[in-house]
Amino acid sequence: MTTASAPGKIILFGEHAVVYGRPALAVPVTQVHANVEITDSDSAGIWIQAPDIHLHAELNMLPSDHPIAAVIHNLFFLSRVSPFPTLNIKITSTIPVASGLGSGAAVTVALTRALSTHISYSMTDEQVSAFAYEIEKLYHGTPSGIDNTVITYAKLVYFVKGQALETFKVGQPFTIVIGDTGISAPTKESVGDVRKLWEADKAKWENVFDEVADISFSARRVIEEGWTKMLGALMDENHALLQSMTISSPELDKLVLAARNAGALGAKLSGGGRGGNMIALVEPDQAEAVARSLMEADAKHTIITQVS
Ligand code: MEV
Repeated sequence: MTTASAPGKIILFGEHAVVYGRPALAVPVTQVHANVEITDSDSAGIWIQAPDIHLHAELNMLPSDHPIAAVIHNLFFLSRVSPFPTLNIKITSTIPVASGLGSGAAVTVALTRALSTHISYSMTDEQVSAFAYEIEKLYHGTPSGIDNTVITYAKLVYFVKGQALETFKVGQPFTIVIGDTGISAPTKESVGDVRKLWEADKAKWENVFDEVADISFSARRVIEEGWTKMLGALMDENHALLQSMTISSPELDKLVLAARNAGALGAKLSGGGRGGNMIALVEPDQAEAVARSLMEADAKHTIITQVS
């Protein structure tokens, strides 16, 4: 049996603007992950079982642009495996789907790693991430590439589309509480809606994206220097800009407000928006209280994570 797993992720700063070439910061969330198990099989075909998305099918029963089928077909094509081996592939994930935590990219990265190992086709992290980026395009048309990057490398990244990976040191560890609205919201739609706004008034939105870029740039400096408390105000500012992009929702705003009222140093939505998750920066000893307040404000789950 060959196994691989990949973590979830949160965007700390810069979602959406990152699609337009501005920098964004993201970190892996290791409390949730996608797992893939591959075993050789005696029966014909490649059987895929993904109970979380109610999928149990033979490879040829899936449309060729299905992201899971696309990983398998493209990897076999690249590695020139022929004929296809007979396999059972089991995919499970604790990352909620369409929640901004990178569930699609994590499945792709875990499946790519498990399958390439199983067929002895060696891939570097750079190749895995580039491969996963092509598959991300099937999930949501014009991705920036931040999700596949942070999930493949599983480290804090300062990401600019099309540029080499940059990571940086954390001056002082900090604590984030993640709150899930429980509302699934496909990133493809929110990215498409921001694109419509941008197409209607490019000058205005380029300015907004520049403001987000300044926040991401400052956040990197603040994290490097360990001036963690200053990150809170940057999160609040970033959330306001995301609201102006129509990317927040009443449920996200309610959680953001609840976190701030419970003493968080700052809070914002994280990822595609409209539903999914928000994040709050907290003092470590406030984390449980903020998580409780989020649950009282109708969060479906919370995760406390440390960035170090
Ligand atoms: C999704 O995690 C982040 C977005 O900026 C989309 C992308 O970068 O591809 C909303």
